[in-house]
Amino acid sequence: MCPPTFFDVREPKNPYMGLPIDRAKAQQQWEDLRRTLEDAGLKVEVIDAVEGLDDMVFAANQVFVGHHDRLGDFIVPSRMRYASRHKEVPFFIDWFWQRGYKIINLDLDGECLEGHGDLLWHPDHSRIWAAYGFRSTRGGVEKFAAAMQELGFPVIPVQLVDDHCYHLDTCLCPLNDEAALIYPGAFSPESLQTVRGAWKRIHELTSAEARQFMGNGIVANGRFITPRMTRNLEHILAQENLMPVVVDTSEFEKSGGSVFCMKALIE
Ligand code: ARG
Repeated sequence: MCPPTFFDVREPKNPYMGLPIDRAKAQQQWEDLRRTLEDAGLKVEVIDAVEGLDDMVFAANQVFVGHHDRLGDFIVPSRMRYASRHKEVPFFIDWFWQRGYKIINLDLDGECLEGHGDLLWHPDHSRIWAAYGFRSTRGGVEKFAAAMQELGFPVIPVQLVDDHCYHLDTCLCPLNDEAALIYPGAFSPESLQTVRGAWKRIHELTSAEARQFMGNGIVANGRFITPRMTRNLEHILAQENLMPVVVDTSEFEKSGGSVFCMKALIE
């Protein structure tokens, strides 16, 4: 995680961005999320925030993190769509490099790839879901897919079509090997078919739920950490034996992100 010391909303990069943030409240919400993750049994490691990098708090985006039997731990650095976020990436590369991660650099010239915003491991790590449309580009996803293919990880590309779901982590939330939470309206018809065909159980969020980041949850040790709750989501989580834990992320939602965006799972 990256603390929100310099978090701000300046340049609008998605439809949620516009209102000013309350930095003290943001700090409090970030601490609450950190404690919630620790209560769920996760160890939290922190990267220093850097002045001027307003979105660095969204630690899901700067690199894709993986583990390969032969190669060991690795990252694939992102090429962010907005120039204002380019500078975040080297700080994350450095952090991982110091901890022994291999760096897989793609030649992303002219393409974009936004880490775990658009790239999600299937829970059993057998394949990777990769979205393009708003932030990552199709070409970026193709280059990523070629590199992962070499490591033996198949990549499933999907196209996003709703600008309120500009990252895959806002509309596809794997719950376990068999079940996923999705907002169907976020996908092109063909991609929606692909998603539906790959899971035994698909649970659907409404557009209003997706826009309130209920598809941006974190699954951790039997818990589902979410910024809010509805009867529908409650019902879904009960079916999948997940215990809901609600954490307020109002200040980060003003930047278009919630709990999932605010961390990278490194193991
Ligand atoms: N303001 C950030 C941006 O638009 C939000 C990133 C949210 N991250 C995510 N993984 N969905 O770039």
